[in-house]
Amino acid sequence: MLEGIRKRGTQTRALTLVVWHKLRQDGVRSLLRRGIGKLPRWHDRDRTQSSFDQEFGTDTDGVVPLWKLQIESPHREQGVRYQASAPDFIRAAIESLPIAPADFVYVDIGSGKGRTLLVASEYPFRRVIGVEFSSELNAIATENIRRYRGVRRRCADVSSVCADAATWEFPTENTVLFLYNPFGERVLRRVLGNLRTSLARHPRDVYIIYSHPILAHLLDDSGFLQRIDAPIEGAIYRHASQGANSRSS
Ligand SMILES: C[S@@+](CC[C@H](N)C(=O)[O-])C[C@H]1O[C@@H](n2cnc3c(N)ncnc32)[C@H](O)[C@@H]1O
Repeated sequence: MLEGIRKRGTQTRALTLVVWHKLRQDGVRSLLRRGIGKLPRWHDRDRTQSSFDQEFGTDTDGVVPLWKLQIESPHREQGVRYQASAPDFIRAAIESLPIAPADFVYVDIGSGKGRTLLVASEYPFRRVIGVEFSSELNAIATENIRRYRGVRRRCADVSSVCADAATWEFPTENTVLFLYNPFGERVLRRVLGNLRTSLARHPRDVYIIYSHPILAHLLDDSGFLQRIDAPIEGAIYRHASQGANSRSS
């Protein structure tokens, strides 16, 4: 019993430290706005190495709350913690698209340690790009790309850039965008606005794979994206430009 009391005391002290750190870092108003439920939980500790990482010699696993990272961005508050997508989900989503990957660039917005970039490189995309605003996660992603030893790799041009999704410029080619619920409404509105402007300047086809689509209404109401049927959990959206050069496979 004494041991139990001691353990609870240690946990309470640790939680107090976390709350104190959050208060210093983000301020009282931010903490109240985000809610106590957003504080890192005990199960947020890094898990054991995943079979993906064991197979490919990479480091893509674990949950990383953003308060642990140095992030120079006015949108830090809107960001969602790092957690990797499941490889099977990424493959199923890409394979459900009615496209020839060779006609498309793949972009993961909020790519973290880069797991989806590695899986996407199993398909012959023109290029595979990750956009991540944490320089620490971006450095891990870059190292993962270097170390990755997947024998199924069919795209050699894979990169991760450290940038804020809200100000990053889209490539002007046909694009598959991957979004795993990376940020809140304010940033998603900015990203969709930028995409719309870019599409008006450079008409082309875009597919969006939206995993955990909690802000799907923004895409539903965007006026330039149509949701299409997809045999996956999550949602797929399409913008088809008249005259854009795409073909179905
Ligand atoms: C839930 S994780 C998804 C990781 C990866 N896409 C995957 O599916 O494996 C969300 C990621 O988005 C990043 N992020 C959040 N806001 C961002 C922003 N404004 N610009 C760039 N990256 C952002 C976070 O740092 C985090 O790594």
